[in-house]
Amino acid sequence: MIAPAGTVRGRIQVPGDKSISHRYAILSALADGRSTIANYAPGADCQSTLACLAALGVMVERPAGPDGRVGITGRGLGGLVPPAAPLDCGNSGTTLRLMAGVLAAHPFDATLFGDASLSRRPMRRVMVPLSEMGARFEAAPGDRPPVLIHGARLRPIHYRPDVPSAQVKSAVLLAGLQTEGTTAVTEPASTRDHTERALDAFGIPPQVAGRTISVQGGRRLVAQDLTVPGDLSSAAFPAVAAAALAGSDVTIDGVGLNPSRAAILDLLRRFGAVVDAQVTTVRHGEPVGHIRVRHGALEPVEVRPDEVPDVIDELPVLAALATFGGGLTVGGAGELRVKESDRISALVGGLRAMGADADERPDGFTIRPTRPLAGGVVDAHGDHRLAMAFAIAALGATGPTTIAGAEVVAVSYPSFFDDLDRLRA
Ligand code: S3P
Repeated sequence: MIAPAGTVRGRIQVPGDKSISHRYAILSALADGRSTIANYAPGADCQSTLACLAALGVMVERPAGPDGRVGITGRGLGGLVPPAAPLDCGNSGTTLRLMAGVLAAHPFDATLFGDASLSRRPMRRVMVPLSEMGARFEAAPGDRPPVLIHGARLRPIHYRPDVPSAQVKSAVLLAGLQTEGTTAVTEPASTRDHTERALDAFGIPPQVAGRTISVQGGRRLVAQDLTVPGDLSSAAFPAVAAAALAGSDVTIDGVGLNPSRAAILDLLRRFGAVVDAQVTTVRHGEPVGHIRVRHGALEPVEVRPDEVPDVIDELPVLAALATFGGGLTVGGAGELRVKESDRISALVGGLRAMGADADERPDGFTIRPTRPLAGGVVDAHGDHRLAMAFAIAALGATGPTTIAGAEVVAVSYPSFFDDLDRLRA
């Protein structure tokens, strides 16, 4: 149950970046030697990736305390061993799509499956290019998980996906590493580039020319000692709370500021917030620094279709911000319907249940800030980012809000409710 808040103030750190953690774990598993990963994302999603790798014969040492480093002893390119049982990806779409790319290139059968939410996620987007490379797939109706992968010796391709998706790009590049030749992906719009930066850190710099990224197959990856920056997508929740509530001032330290993820900062400014962001260091190619967010009078904002890929994960919390004032219109965001939940209908439905004036369209939504929310009872729909977005919206309601299924925040940000409580001033 979330009580309304007057102001949020203070300084926090958020958990390690989920996207980067998955990539460091997978590349460590394909490398020669023992890698270590500090500040590995503590959420369930990145634990699913570790569990899958362990089931494929990778030695994974999990840290004893919160400050510990994950240790991963790689099996070398093409060195994974057949799993004894289907591989459980839990709630994690990134585990599912990236591991499909890795497994497609191993000459054995493996099945990937997950929870009820993951079982609704489309797999065709990775099955098409990986089949073209030579793997075979058997999936549930509608090309959903569980997916049985018949891995094979792959051939390189030049793939042009029709959806902008970092997961699809990464699946193809990971498969491409395990071919003899050059594999390229030309994206319809740029997406987060953590795979490219991580490959460089492991000694295999990809070639980047505009929206085309190519990797050279057959080159060995070198084990690394890595540190994951804080997750800017998790930082977006306290940042939005600060933008929303008058008199607020929140600083988030040690957070990743990769430009392909940082569009949220400009959007907060467009809403009227005062945002300072400072890169203080670059680790393994990833810029890291702090952000400070203060409230300002809220303005109406429109997110255009071409802006969507860069803020895809932050749209739910931006919708929450719009309920405090300003309002928000989002178009060209049909991809939201195939995330951990249908993030258009579940988001709009939840905010309306709290008293918002909101409408959905096939590829977007509109939030009109006509009155403060009342609060009430909402369902997280098994979606971590919806649970957190509703919690932020609830801070501005006139009464309390109960979020059913709120424990799902553990997927990406287990300490979310504690951090939010600490910031209440
Ligand atoms: C991710 C890519 C995005 C994003 C997801 C994480 C990644 O998904 O929504 O939370 O780590 O590559 P898509 O590739 O489906 O856009």
